[in-house]
Amino acid sequence: MHLTELHIQNLRNIEAEQLVLAPGLNLFVGPNGAGKTSVLEAAYLLSHGGSFRTHQAEHLQRRGAEPLALFAQVRTDSLTRRLGLLRQGGRWTAKLDGDASAKLTDLFAACAVVCFEPGSHALISGSADGRRGFLDWGVFHVEPDFAPRMRRYRRALRQRNALLKQAAGDDELLIWDEELSQAAEPLATAREAYMARFERELIPLLDGYLPELGGASLRFRPGWNRTTPLGEALKEARSRDRALGHTTRGLHRADWNLGFAKAPSHEQLSRGQEKLCAIACVLAQVSVYRSVRGEDPVIAFDDLCSELDATHQAAALAALIESGAQILLTGTEIPSALFERFPAQRMFHVEQGRMREVL
Ligand SMILES: Nc1ncnc2c1ncn2[C@@H]1O[C@H](COP(=O)(O)OP(=O)(O)OP(=O)(O)O)[C@@H](O)[C@H]1O
Ligand SMILES: [Mg+2]
Repeated sequence: MHLTELHIQNLRNIEAEQLVLAPGLNLFVGPNGAGKTSVLEAAYLLSHGGSFRTHQAEHLQRRGAEPLALFAQVRTDSLTRRLGLLRQGGRWTAKLDGDASAKLTDLFAACAVVCFEPGSHALISGSADGRRGFLDWGVFHVEPDFAPRMRRYRRALRQRNALLKQAAGDDELLIWDEELSQAAEPLATAREAYMARFERELIPLLDGYLPELGGASLRFRPGWNRTTPLGEALKEARSRDRALGHTTRGLHRADWNLGFAKAPSHEQLSRGQEKLCAIACVLAQVSVYRSVRGEDPVIAFDDLCSELDATHQAAALAALIESGAQILLTGTEIPSALFERFPAQRMFHVEQGRMREVL
């Protein structure tokens, strides 16, 4: 899939810009603070409903301006869709092909954007939340029932946690243990299936990028011992959960980690090695998406050239460009060696929130 148009209104320092994008490599070049990352943020928001830079949406909205409005035209092999995302009065609303009653998840399902940016090393060394979010974005795009099932799970989790805090009786808790268990089992299976696919794509990439670390491995922890149903695990953990006031087993406790023969923990990786691991994860996610959906997601790469050494930049870009995916790439400057090897289809000069097409 690729974005043919991206309109941005009142996002960070961008007042109102309308971009026509090429299906291949699109470059955004300009000085610090110009608004380059904000363009990627716009595309990412349409696919995730949140930013890779902040959890607080009010920071996204241009100071003193409303509404924040994004529009994209997305072309897949079979159809073209029109996506709108609006934030007004602190609320997000979606529009899909003119239908203002579309759900946000309908919008996200229609638009797949993955991103590598300077903070992406947190995928390796940061909190489990980020890794679960990454995993679930992938599962969401291959498993049609993912979103409603996850909503059901979260509702049940909130109920159980509230009852734990109120010191409710065992009978009452049992109802929610069962509800959680029923909601969780298909999602845990879907996550495991996704992880198996992801691992097959990821390990050869890691071994290629980081041969000095010995063989790579991926470890997935589903959030409870899957040899028993979640309902039983919750029963076993009940007295501990009561003492802590929250649920200590379940999908919300899942995590995954990378290890290497010569660096079993991420604590032993350099920052650059963490970034290479994060790129490999993004590329593996692209491959899984492609193998299931038969097309590529859009790939946003922020400041690639300042993040990686020349060899790894070229290797990552070659892998991306050979995939045929649409790429949105930013930089304060694009090294000429890279530019000669990978000519851009479209280039924008970005300055003070304005984009000028230069190619
Ligand atoms: N809510 C906001 N309202 C107005 N301007 C904002 C808001 N949030 C951020 N900005 C400004 O918008 C610009 C955003 O820049 P962005 O991060 O997209 O720049 P960039 O071109 O990627 O820069 P760099 O090369 O430093 O990464 C900055 O100048 C920032 O100060
Ligand atoms: Mg930036």
